[in-house]
Amino acid sequence: MYNKRPVAENIYYVGVNDRQKSLFENYLPIPEGITYNSYLIIDEKVALIDTVDISFADVYFAKIDAVLNDRPIDYLIINHMEPDHAGVIGLLKQKYPMIQMVGNARTFDMLNGYFGISTRLHEVKEGGSLSLGKRTLTFYMAPMVHWPEVMVTYESKDQILFSADAFGSFGTLDGDYLDTFISADRYRNELRRYYACIVGKYGSPAQALLKKLALLEIQTICPTHGPVWRQEIKKIINLHDQWSRYEAEEDGVVIAFGSMYGNTQQLAEAIAEGLVSEGIKNTIIYNVSKTDTSFILSDIFKYKGLIIGSPTYMNDIYPPVENLLFAIKHRGIKNRLYSCFGSFSWAGAAVKQLTAFANTMGWELVGTPVENKQAVFSDKYQAAFELGQTFANRMISLR
Ligand code: FEO
Repeated sequence: MYNKRPVAENIYYVGVNDRQKSLFENYLPIPEGITYNSYLIIDEKVALIDTVDISFADVYFAKIDAVLNDRPIDYLIINHMEPDHAGVIGLLKQKYPMIQMVGNARTFDMLNGYFGISTRLHEVKEGGSLSLGKRTLTFYMAPMVHWPEVMVTYESKDQILFSADAFGSFGTLDGDYLDTFISADRYRNELRRYYACIVGKYGSPAQALLKKLALLEIQTICPTHGPVWRQEIKKIINLHDQWSRYEAEEDGVVIAFGSMYGNTQQLAEAIAEGLVSEGIKNTIIYNVSKTDTSFILSDIFKYKGLIIGSPTYMNDIYPPVENLLFAIKHRGIKNRLYSCFGSFSWAGAAVKQLTAFANTMGWELVGTPVENKQAVFSDKYQAAFELGQTFANRMISLR
């Protein structure tokens, strides 16, 4: 039933769309779905590269059968052992008992731990290669992008990189998998949100991988999620270089606030007016109680400025704001201009802690944080407006 979907001569896409799950890793919203990509190389030997989430085993095996008929698979190349890609390995081993598992020492530790598989292993090391006949695969280790066993696989004849989660994106593939035939722009935000959420903590390992890849000629990148990159390849690599150096894509300010009764929100509105009055067009306000942290985090990776507001709650920061702070700290985001604001009813604590967050992150604190008691009157509204202006001018001074 399934059509063969070639990435290159005798290399086929056999991945699947997940349009069912609402939450990836059971916590990240995926309103546009996700794919689990897998690739099949037919040569004198047959190699399968990664597998898919076990929920899609039936569709996946049908796609493989459509390419192979009854020919067996000789090698499974395991670039990444996380279950969204390794899920089908146990069933694959039952269907193809003679298959050899190709991975590194850390892969095999996980392979045994997850599936009890410890035989017919073909261990590869940095720069090691495996001939399939006309094609040769070379392996490069990519530890902590974003698991320790991760490696990438390079096919030299057509210069294809099978990149595991690196360069992956949220979003299903609707009608085709190659960026040449679909709108790459559709994935721009989900690509960044995927990076920010999944790989964002591991900027240094991502940089180490990019340095290795700079020595290779790459015509096509086949990640484990989202589009296969060919036309957009330079842009995609450049974006990942920026993000993994924690360099903002452009000027702009994220104002992320929590507010119980609207007072902290009023300060957010005043700050935004001050920013825009000085020419910061990309001024984006997020209510942390309404917008999932992953979307806010994605824009924090995108923009240079961040201003966070919180009411004082039980002599502490408001819990949804604390969630955001945790996500930022966890990613170790660097080089941001920062300020903060907040309100309280009888004793202030949040603004003090938000101010200290600048030190925690090693960020420049811009202007004077605004703290308001009870209702917002014109003096504090004006102070918040002026904080926005001061912030805008500091940002402009860095252009
Ligand atoms: Fe897509 Fe790290 O698994």
